[in-house]
Amino acid sequence: MSTVEIRNLRKSFGKLEVLKGIDFTVEAGQVVCVIGPSGSGKSTLLRCVNLLERPTSGRVVVDDTEITDPDVDIDAVRRRLGMVFQQFNLFPHLTVLRNVTIAQERVLRRGRAEAERIARENLERVGLGEKADAFPAQLSGGQQQRVAIARALAMNPSLMLFDEPTSALDPELVGDVLGVMRELAGDGMTMMVVTHEMNFAREVADRVVFMDQGVIVEDGPPEQVIVAPRHARTREFLSRVLHPEG
Ligand SMILES: Nc1ncnc2c1ncn2[C@@H]1O[C@H](COP(=O)(O)OP(=O)(O)OP(=O)(O)O)[C@@H](O)[C@H]1O
Ligand SMILES: [Mg+2]
Repeated sequence: MSTVEIRNLRKSFGKLEVLKGIDFTVEAGQVVCVIGPSGSGKSTLLRCVNLLERPTSGRVVVDDTEITDPDVDIDAVRRRLGMVFQQFNLFPHLTVLRNVTIAQERVLRRGRAEAERIARENLERVGLGEKADAFPAQLSGGQQQRVAIARALAMNPSLMLFDEPTSALDPELVGDVLGVMRELAGDGMTMMVVTHEMNFAREVADRVVFMDQGVIVEDGPPEQVIVAPRHARTREFLSRVLHPEG
């Protein structure tokens, strides 16, 4: 289980400042849901934590490693993180099993038999033990996303980052993916989850962080941020997400 500490994190793209001094901590075993309007910087924040983006300034510390240190071993940092995105990015020409073994073999140097054993365990864990020999195109979107989760888990991450893992899915497929994430949270995984699923955030998150225009407006337990938000911007956002037609 990892901890994450983010201190005065800033990120600009040219003249556009997207993260304007972000501060927060994720304790070991906690689930933090990040919510906020489109363009508020949620993905950029996650991408700074997994070093897909270099922050402009500020610090990100995962356990005892300052990952914003220019000399950090990026591969070693990434090996501790599991990442799940909106698009599952499975290899279409490889079976489900192979999709879950390939990084284990190439990055962790596990042998084929061990990688397959671990892949099967994790496919069972996400409810897809039967699909090991299928190809991605033969699965539903929700099943593909669960393969992507199994693929991340097979690397034994101590921290999982999710960026809108259910927003590309048909509504009836969302529940299975959230169910897997809920179980992971119950197993004590440290998780940062960008999501618009307010029921999930309410039930599973230890903390909810509301971002708007590159700053954290509100950070607290879900009963506060989602149920009784203090700030007008949070209330406005929630009423839009909870009542999109209204
Ligand atoms: N590589 C980039 N180059 C330039 N601008 C970028 C880049 N990545 C993101 N941005 C800009 O940064 C801002 C924040 O983007 P980001 O993707 O972090 O928002 P978000 O909160 O994840 O939005 P969404 O809910 O739509 O996914 C946006 O204005 C976006 O256009
Ligand atoms: Mg995003």
